[in-house]
Amino acid sequence: MENNPIHRLIRHLGKNKNKFKYFKAPGRINLIGGHTDYNDGYVLPIAINRNIAVAAKYRTDNIVEVYSLDFNEKESFNLNETVYNEDSEWINYIQGVVKFLQAKVVKGANHDIKGLDIYIAGNIPSGAGLSSSAALELAVAEAFNSMYNLNFTKQELALISQQAENEFVGVSCGIMDQFISALGEKDNGLFLDCRTLDYSLIKLDFKQLKIVITDTKKKHSLVNSAYNDRISECNKAVKYFNSKLDKPVSKLRDVSIADYQRHKNGLSETIRNRAEHVIFENQRVCKTRDALKNNNLKEVGKNLLESHNSLKNLYEVSSKELDLLVDIASNLDGVYGSRMTGAGFGGSTINLVKESNLKEFEKEISINYKIETGIEPELYILESSEGSTQIKI
Ligand code: GLA
Repeated sequence: MENNPIHRLIRHLGKNKNKFKYFKAPGRINLIGGHTDYNDGYVLPIAINRNIAVAAKYRTDNIVEVYSLDFNEKESFNLNETVYNEDSEWINYIQGVVKFLQAKVVKGANHDIKGLDIYIAGNIPSGAGLSSSAALELAVAEAFNSMYNLNFTKQELALISQQAENEFVGVSCGIMDQFISALGEKDNGLFLDCRTLDYSLIKLDFKQLKIVITDTKKKHSLVNSAYNDRISECNKAVKYFNSKLDKPVSKLRDVSIADYQRHKNGLSETIRNRAEHVIFENQRVCKTRDALKNNNLKEVGKNLLESHNSLKNLYEVSSKELDLLVDIASNLDGVYGSRMTGAGFGGSTINLVKESNLKEFEKEISINYKIETGIEPELYILESSEGSTQIKI
């Protein structure tokens, strides 16, 4: 897992390595902004130094043949006949990207896409909530974009990848994961307005600080259905506020804290809680952006913890393992903040830990989590990284 995936591809291809071009796209953590993206709100993710890498070589026919080093599996499909493959989950992300890239190309510049031979390797732990699927989409999108001179912008590649996930794979995710995988930058977080897609890079002054991911190692099967339930609960809140406010409300983004306070009592408890989380979480993202700019890490940490409690108590997407990890971390010295990251129901927490307290942090988390759950948690110390790109070898 630790191995650099580009190096693994090069080793695997041996004497043929120069016949290929290489691309990579990162996974992500979301510093703050949980479940705000599909409500047209704000998020503040960071691209991480764990990637999916792709080696690609031209073909003259319409076949895309893909070999995954990690799964030791080969799959192929015809560019013009992308059909959901029930037997191999991962190939569908690639089929989806290729399908929607082509759809855009035909309407636009009329370039001709042919097939590719593709090899894939990665070091993003899957199931940890670090967005290995968005990274796969972006790495493949970069490869086609560059090799067939399609001239899509990074933002367009992110949108095409999201469309692939929504409409081909069938997961109703927001834009955050694809956007940060395409447009992240080293030493920066990215503040994104998910409605306008305006964004700004926020310098991370994390010299004596480490980003530590603690993986619960527990995946809950509910994640997809619960995610869709949350989307429909937010839509119910939108409908309600639209009927109450004298301005159009198309997403919870349109409801201010004052609007919420004035009208919240007409909502059922569950819908009120969901709306309250989203509306205040948007405010916390803005506060965190400002605190990062002022290098006020205490304030950043406070917002992270508030975000976690809100995701736990109001949005109800946490799990007892995630809560336990946040609880242990919050009581340790040198921890600025801790919260669940990603969709929830398992996956990981993100922790901002003083470098001088790192050893103790690792020890205490591992021991205490194991005592309570019987599970050895996995810890990853991560760095920020650049977004999707070609790699010259
Ligand atoms: C998943 C989705 C994202 C976002 C997060 C929750 O990672 O892919 O679009 O909604 O959950 O913040």
